[in-house]
Amino acid sequence: MKGIVIFGAGGRAGRAVTAEALARGRTVTAVVRDPARYPDLGAEGVTVVQGDVLDAGTVARVAAGHAGAVHAVSPFSGPEDAVGSVDPRFFVRAADALLDGLGAAGVSRLVAVGLGANLLGADGRMVLDDPVAFPQPLRPFALAHTAGLHRLRERADGPVDWVMLTPAGFLEHGGPRTGRYRVGGERLPSVGGAGSNGRGEPWLSYADLAVAVVDEIETPARHRTRVSVFNVRGREEDDRQGHGVSGRRRGK
Ligand SMILES: NC(=O)c1ccc[n+]([C@@H]2O[C@H](COP(=O)([O-])OP(=O)(O)OC[C@H]3O[C@@H](n4cnc5c(N)ncnc54)[C@H](OP(=O)(O)O)[C@@H]3O)[C@@H](O)[C@H]2O)c1
Repeated sequence: MKGIVIFGAGGRAGRAVTAEALARGRTVTAVVRDPARYPDLGAEGVTVVQGDVLDAGTVARVAAGHAGAVHAVSPFSGPEDAVGSVDPRFFVRAADALLDGLGAAGVSRLVAVGLGANLLGADGRMVLDDPVAFPQPLRPFALAHTAGLHRLRERADGPVDWVMLTPAGFLEHGGPRTGRYRVGGERLPSVGGAGSNGRGEPWLSYADLAVAVVDEIETPARHRTRVSVFNVRGREEDDRQGHGVSGRRRGK
C-alpha cells in the first residue's frame, strides 16, 4: 500500500496516527508548518515536509502519490491559547484546500478528525449549544469546526471520498491503546451507567482514535459522512469478553 500523508503530524492526534501507521508498516509523510520545530518527528518511514493545510497548491504537492490523507490540524490547542484569535473560517478554508488539493493530486481518500462539541445531545441540540455541557468561551472554536464539517458536506459529490471521525467524550492524551473503538452516529452516545467514577462514560484515547483513522485509510468503511468514535470507560473488560462492541477490533 502507498503511504499516508498526515496534516498536523506534529500535534497530538497527528503523532498518534503517525505512530499507528508506522506500527502497521506504512510509510508516512508528516506535514508541519515549520519542520525545524519538530526535529524528533523524523523516524524510519517518516518524511517530514513543510506545508500549510490552508494552501491547496501545497496540499497537492505534498499529497501526490499517497494512498490517503489525514486532517489532524487544529488552530487551537487548549485553554491556554487565545481562542478569540481563531479564524472562524479556518476549517472551511482547510476543507476547501484539502478537497481541491487532494482532487488535483488524484488522492481520493481523506480522513478528518472532528470535534465532539457538534454532536447532538439528548435534547437534540448540539453540545456546543448547551452552556452547561460546553464551556461557552470555546464556542467560537467549536462553531469554526462545525462550519468545516458543513463545507465537507456541501462538497460531498466531489472526487475525494472523505470521512470525519468525531471523538465522543473526553479525548485522552497518553491514554492506552486498546486497539478497539465503537462507531456511532450524530448523537453523543448514550451508554448508560455513568457514575461519579466516570465508569460508563464515552471516552477515547488518542491512540485508539489513531487506530480508527488508519483503519479508515486502509479499509474505507464510511463514505462522505461523519461518525462518532468512542470507547466506554469501565466497559473494557466487557469488550474483552466480547460484549457490546460495535467498532472494529485490532490486536495490540
Ligand atoms: N473530544 C474531541 O472532540 C476533541 C478533543 C481534542 C481535539 N479534537 C480535535 O482533534 C483534532 C486534532 O487535535 P489535536 O489535539 O491533535 O491538536 P494539536 O495537538 O493542537 O495539534 C494541531 C496541529 O495542527 C497544526 N497546524 C495548525 N495550523 C496549521 C496549518 N495551517 N497547517 C498545517 N498544520 C497546522 C499544528 O502544528 P504547527 O502549529 O506546528 O504548525 C499542530 O501540530 C482537531 O480537529 C481538534 O479539534 C477533538
